[in-house]
Amino acid sequence: MRRKVTKAIFPVAGMGTRFLPATKAVPKEIMTLVDRPLIQYAIDEARAAGIREFIFVTSRGKSALEDYFDHAPELESALRKKGKTELLEVLKDTNMDSGAIAYIRQHKALGLGHAVWCARRLIGDEPFAVILPDDVIAAEKPCLQQMVEAYQETGGNMVAAMEVPPEKASSYGLLDVEEEMGSLVRVRGMVEKPKPEDAPSNLAVIGRYILTPKIMNNLNKMKSGAGGEIQLTDAIAQEIGGADGVYGLRFRGQRFDCGSKAGFLQATVSFGMSRPDLRDEFTSYLHEIVCTQKAAQ
Ligand code: UTP
Repeated sequence: MRRKVTKAIFPVAGMGTRFLPATKAVPKEIMTLVDRPLIQYAIDEARAAGIREFIFVTSRGKSALEDYFDHAPELESALRKKGKTELLEVLKDTNMDSGAIAYIRQHKALGLGHAVWCARRLIGDEPFAVILPDDVIAAEKPCLQQMVEAYQETGGNMVAAMEVPPEKASSYGLLDVEEEMGSLVRVRGMVEKPKPEDAPSNLAVIGRYILTPKIMNNLNKMKSGAGGEIQLTDAIAQEIGGADGVYGLRFRGQRFDCGSKAGFLQATVSFGMSRPDLRDEFTSYLHEIVCTQKAAQ
């Protein structure tokens, strides 16, 4: 029986420069899609996949995240007094069991690989998940759950993978595929942000991972890679051809890059349109502005 994946790392120590000036005062992960911050979508996905321990790698200026997951006695008692039970229910999702959440500081933004490494002592000798909250995935079965199910069969290291248009491929880590196995692929190489002529495929790694604790050992010895940062991809690539191996899962679902402005806006529209309480009004508004624009052309 394979060991269950019950711990997840959420690296949230980046500076979020693409959203300045907003991110001067508000962590990117607290920005909201409709009425829920990005981090809530990530936590919900982790819970659905069986994660019980949530490890945040944070940095200066991220205290709003800690407050978000804390109980808010004054707010709760005000809502209770007013009989707002529905809102009290909504708040429940933001509460964590005592001891289920941990915060570690990354003192310098040395890269995603370094952020993950900062959590090594809390991971110990167990397989673990990594979730980048910027990548929001709308899916019938949450993406990490799909990965945990596939991991039960394969073990090893697993990354979430999706096809990207060739002109965008060099912004991602790309997989070199050794073997197609249905929705899974066995990986024989990984390259972080290659030049277009060096891209091994257009199958890109996005922000969901299940990793063996060996990745932490690899990160121990890592030097900076692409962009002068310590790259998680490089540490995973060292496991290719080893006993555990590396797999990519072509997950079912739609991924939004909420770390970019265009991706965030697309997610806002898509999530707004799929909310029963907003759908009709919002869709007819969108329809109206598109028609007005067309008429003006
Ligand atoms: P990004 O590459 O999106 O960087 O990081 P960023 O700082 O968040 O945003 P921009 O590019 O300046 O706008 C991908 C993920 O890795 C985390 C980020 O918080 C984000 O979740 N990260 C990145 C760290 O935790 N530490 C780092 O040193 C770098």
